[in-house]
Amino acid sequence: MQKIKVNLADRGYDIIIGSGILNQLGNFTIEAGLGKSIAVITNDVVAPLYLEAVKTSLRGAGLKVIAIVIPDGEKYKVFETAIDIYSKLLKAGIDRSHSIIALGGGVIGDLAGFVAATYLRGIAFVQVPTTLLAQVDASVGGKVGINLPQGKNMVGAFYQPKFVFIDVDVLSTLRKEVFIEGFSEVIKHGVIRSEKYFSLIENNVKKLLNFDRDLLIETVVGSIRIKADVVSRDERESSLRVILNYGHTIGHAIETLTGYTRFLHGEAVSVGMAAAGKAAVLKGLFSEKDLERQNNLLKSVGLQVNVKNVKEGEIIPLLQVDKKVKDGRVKFVLPERIGKVLVTDDVKIEILKRSLASIIG
Ligand SMILES: NC(=O)c1ccc[n+]([C@@H]2O[C@H](COP(=O)([O-])OP(=O)(O)OC[C@H]3O[C@@H](n4cnc5c(N)ncnc54)[C@H](O)[C@@H]3O)[C@@H](O)[C@H]2O)c1
Ligand SMILES: [Zn+2]
Repeated sequence: MQKIKVNLADRGYDIIIGSGILNQLGNFTIEAGLGKSIAVITNDVVAPLYLEAVKTSLRGAGLKVIAIVIPDGEKYKVFETAIDIYSKLLKAGIDRSHSIIALGGGVIGDLAGFVAATYLRGIAFVQVPTTLLAQVDASVGGKVGINLPQGKNMVGAFYQPKFVFIDVDVLSTLRKEVFIEGFSEVIKHGVIRSEKYFSLIENNVKKLLNFDRDLLIETVVGSIRIKADVVSRDERESSLRVILNYGHTIGHAIETLTGYTRFLHGEAVSVGMAAAGKAAVLKGLFSEKDLERQNNLLKSVGLQVNVKNVKEGEIIPLLQVDKKVKDGRVKFVLPERIGKVLVTDDVKIEILKRSLASIIG
């Protein structure tokens, strides 16, 4: 079992990572002093797989447990679901001395975290992420939120969990494409911050895809170290944290354009990284060789670096509504080499068009 500290003064917390540790969640919850009653929020895909184990562990530690099971899917990360959860929490008598556990992927983590941040002006919560994407990314850093019809994650908060509890064994039940999409955030962390971490993934693709537990732990730990370091330097995304959006400006536009149905988030981010990498090459910042290295790794884990049936002219207007726009200019995170990026709003339309053209088809 490994422990990583996220340093955020009085909001700092531990991330616990291991294999086969789900049955110890109760002990950690007690140690963290999270109250007598716990509301576990999960969905109808994860519940049949892991809810019993979680309940047994919590009850075994002497806690009272209620479970709130919502339907699976991004389309339930909305206000209506939050309102439904608030009323279930009230009915179960959950008060400010109690806590919420988010058991699921990024959708559950964001939604349950948002509920925790707002219910009774905020109650304690714990993240138990069950997808690779949620383990290496969404569960760390305290961004919680819900979607509006106008766009994703448009309402939310920075609200840190009391701890994050990660058992990599739960990844074994993921659909293959959901497992694979998580690698786009993994590879992103390498490109933005650490060539060493990038190489670790590069040298172990086969083992990772074959579910080598030790390597999975090393991968999750490595990603979390990178994300935790960035977040603890800039919790509220006033500067450095922006680099975590590498590949996301164009990735989000592709998700929006395709109505969130053709691509999983990580799949769109993979294409977005290929486009941002190309823009960096065209600006003379990044070498062709490094772009190829990035794209080869994305492809070798099973991700794509292009998109069919969309036009660059459809993507460009969508970049303007992204939250990363400041004073009307689109901010791009561009790589200088594997392990280092910069943030710039100086990407001329010609370069943008040519980089988008490189990912279409
Ligand atoms: N807060 C952040 O910093 C942050 C960062 C990245 C993404 N996100 C958000 O995360 C969400 C995407 O997260 P995701 O990719 O985890 O999607 P998800 O939560 O929809 O999970 C993907 C699918 O896997 C299922 N699943 C989850 N765990 C499973 C398991 N162990 N076995 C079998 N099936 C399982 C889910 O029910 C779902 O069908 C988006 O809403 C995105 O906005 C948030
Ligand atoms: Zn992402």
